[in-house]
Amino acid sequence: MAKKEAVETSEAQIAVHWQEEDYFYPSKRFIAQANLTDESVYERFGLDNFPECYTEYADLLHWYKKWDTVLDTSDAPCWKWFVGGKINASYNCIDRHLEKNKNKTAIHFVPEPENERVQHITYQELYVRVNEVAALLRDFAGLKAGDTVTLHLPMTAELPITMLACARLGVIHSQVFGGFSGRACADRIVDSKSKVLITIDGYYRGGKLIDHKQNADIAVDLAKKDGQKVDKVLVWQRYPGKNSVPTPMIEGLDYFVNDLLKNYRGKKVDPVPMPAEAPLFLMYTSGTTGKPKGCQHSTGGYLAYVTGTSKYIQDIHPEDVYWCMADIGWITGHSYIVYGPLSLCASTVIYEGIPTYPDAGRAWRIAEELNVNIFHTAPTLIRALRKIDPDLPKKYNHHFKHMTTVGEPIEPAVWRWYHEVIGKNEAVIVDTWWQTETGGFLCSTVPAIKPMKPGSAGPGVPGVYPIIYDELGNEIKAGEGRAGNICIRNPWPGAFQTIWRDRDRYVSNYYERYCKDKNSKDWRDWPYLTGDAAMEAEDGYYRILGRIDDVINVSGHRLGTKEIESAALTVMEVAEAAVVPVSDEIKGVVPDLYISLKPGHEPTDELAMKISAKICETIGKIAKPRRVWLVSDMPKTRSGKIMRRVLGALSNKKDVGDVSTLANPEIVDEIRKVTS
Ligand code: WT7
Repeated sequence: MAKKEAVETSEAQIAVHWQEEDYFYPSKRFIAQANLTDESVYERFGLDNFPECYTEYADLLHWYKKWDTVLDTSDAPCWKWFVGGKINASYNCIDRHLEKNKNKTAIHFVPEPENERVQHITYQELYVRVNEVAALLRDFAGLKAGDTVTLHLPMTAELPITMLACARLGVIHSQVFGGFSGRACADRIVDSKSKVLITIDGYYRGGKLIDHKQNADIAVDLAKKDGQKVDKVLVWQRYPGKNSVPTPMIEGLDYFVNDLLKNYRGKKVDPVPMPAEAPLFLMYTSGTTGKPKGCQHSTGGYLAYVTGTSKYIQDIHPEDVYWCMADIGWITGHSYIVYGPLSLCASTVIYEGIPTYPDAGRAWRIAEELNVNIFHTAPTLIRALRKIDPDLPKKYNHHFKHMTTVGEPIEPAVWRWYHEVIGKNEAVIVDTWWQTETGGFLCSTVPAIKPMKPGSAGPGVPGVYPIIYDELGNEIKAGEGRAGNICIRNPWPGAFQTIWRDRDRYVSNYYERYCKDKNSKDWRDWPYLTGDAAMEAEDGYYRILGRIDDVINVSGHRLGTKEIESAALTVMEVAEAAVVPVSDEIKGVVPDLYISLKPGHEPTDELAMKISAKICETIGKIAKPRRVWLVSDMPKTRSGKIMRRVLGALSNKKDVGDVSTLANPEIVDEIRKVTS
C-alpha cells in the first residue's frame, strides 16, 4: 500500500509528539436539561445488544408498518436495516409535528443582505409548500418513487423544501453543492441518470447576486454530450416573479417553479410509504480516483440514525433554535440541518451567505436575533474568526448551550478559544468525527456524560465500535501511542448502503482491506475502513489524524487529489500533474499543483493561470490550487511513480528526507529553487 509510510512515519510521529490535554466538564445547567444523562446508554448499546439496540432510535420515528428484521446481513457487506418496515421521511419531518406544533418555526431563512428580513417558515407553512412542490414534481415533472433527480441549489429555504418534496414521493434526490461548477453538476447528472434538474436563478454570496442559472445550461449541455438527456430544468427564483440574473430561460426546457406552482395551490400529496431500505438520497463525494462516488443512503436506517444522534449528541429539543453553519450540499447539512433537526421538531437556521459577510460579527448578530442556542460549524471558520478579531464575539450577547466542531481535526488552542470566546465558557462542545459515507456521527462525546478533551473526537458514539488496525491487520490498542487505520467493527443504521450502481467499488473501497472472510454473512467479519488515520488514548478517546488515501480536506471540504489532477491533465500542454496538500493557517490544508509540460511548451504565467482556471471550471472554486508550479520533471521512483511525498515536503518547506533512491534525485534541488 502506497500510503503505508504516511501512517507509519509522519502521522504517527506527529501523534506521538502530541500532548495529552486536560478534560473540560459540562456545566450543571447543561446536564440538568440534557436529553441523555443516563450512563447505561453505553450498556444498552453494547455489542451484546447489537443490532437490537438501534430499535431505540427507530422508535423515535413514525412507521406505517414496523420492521420484521432489525439487521439483514444476507447480502453482506450491503447491510439492510429495519427490513419490512414502511416509512416516509417527509411525514416524519413535517406532518407528525402539526398536531402540537404547527405554528412553530421549522426554518429560519436568513438572506445574506442584512436589510432583507428573515423568513420564519412554520411547520404548517412548510407542510403547505412541500405538498405543492411534491404535486408539481409528480404531475408536471412526472417523477415517481425510485426515480432520481439532481438538485443544484444554494442555501435558501427552497433547498430543504425541494428535498422534502422528493422524500414525500420516494424520489431519490441528489443535491450537488451549489458552489460546484456546471461540469461537476453534469457528471453527477450523468452518473445518477437524472432526467430532471432543479436549480435557482441566483443567490447572494459575498454581497454579489451570483448568476447560478448559467451553471444549469452548462450542466445540461455537457450531460447530453455524455449520454444523459435532461428533459426539464425547474428553476426557482431568488425573488419570485422577478428576473434576477441575465442568463435567459430556454424554451421547452426551462420552467420557473414559481410560475408552475400557481397550478398547484393548496394541493395535497399523501406521503408515499417507502420500504425502510429504499434509497432516500445520493450524496456524491470524492475518493481515490477521479470519479466521484454516489453514496446511497437509506430511508429508515438513515432517518433513525440522524434523529437519534441529533437528539443525544446534538442535544436537540423541540424548543431549541439550532444553527448548523454547514452547506446543505454536504452530508452535514443533509443530516444535521435538514433531516435530524426537523425530525425532532426543532427550528433550524439556514443562512444564505458567507459567514463573515459583511463583517465577522454577522454570525453573532444572527444568533442574537434568532436566539440560537445550539451552534455547529467547522474548524476552518473558527480559525478564521479567531484570526480576524479574537475578542469580537465577546461584544455580542449570544448564548449557546451546545456547540459542535466537525469536518477536520481542531487544534487544541483553537478549541479552547472556541470554548472560551464563542461559547463564553458556558457551552458544551462536541467534536464529531464522521463522513459522507457514514450518514451520521461515528465518534463524539455524549455531551452530558463524557467530559470534553480538546483535539480529540472522543470515544465511539453509543453503538459504534471503532478499532485501529496496523498495516498487517493487527489491532493497535488504546494508549499504545501508535497510529493506524481506524475502522468500525460493526454496521450502524446511518451507514450508506452502497455506491450508486457500483457495488464492486463499494466493497473494494470500504470492506475488502480487513475482511476476514469474503463469503461471510456475519458482520463481525467485515470491518468498515474509514480511510482515516487515528490514535486511541488510554481513556478510549480517538484523535483523528487525517486521511490515509488521496483525499485532502480543504476547509472541511473533501477533495480528491486525483480529481484535481485529472482536471489539469485535460489542458493540452500538460504532461503530468501531481497534487500535494500544503498546511494553511485557516483552511487546514490547500492543494499545491505540480505540472510537467509536454515537450515544446514553455512554462509561462499564462499557462499556469489557464490550468488553474480549468480546475475551477471542472470542479469549482474550492479546488483552486494555491500555486501551480511548472517544473521540468517530477521526482520519480525507478519504477516511474511520482513521489508526491517529496513534492509535499518541498511545498511545506520540510525536510525531503532521503531522495538518493529516486530515479532522478537532481530534480529535487531544481524544484526547490522554483518553489522557494
Ligand atoms: C473526512 C470526511 C463529517 C461530515 C463532513 C465531512 C475528516 C470529519 C472530523 C473531525 C477530524 C474529521 C475525516 C473524514 N473529518 N470530521 N471531527 N476530526 N477529522 O464529511 O467530506 O465526507 O469528509 O473529514 O478525514 O474522513 P466528508
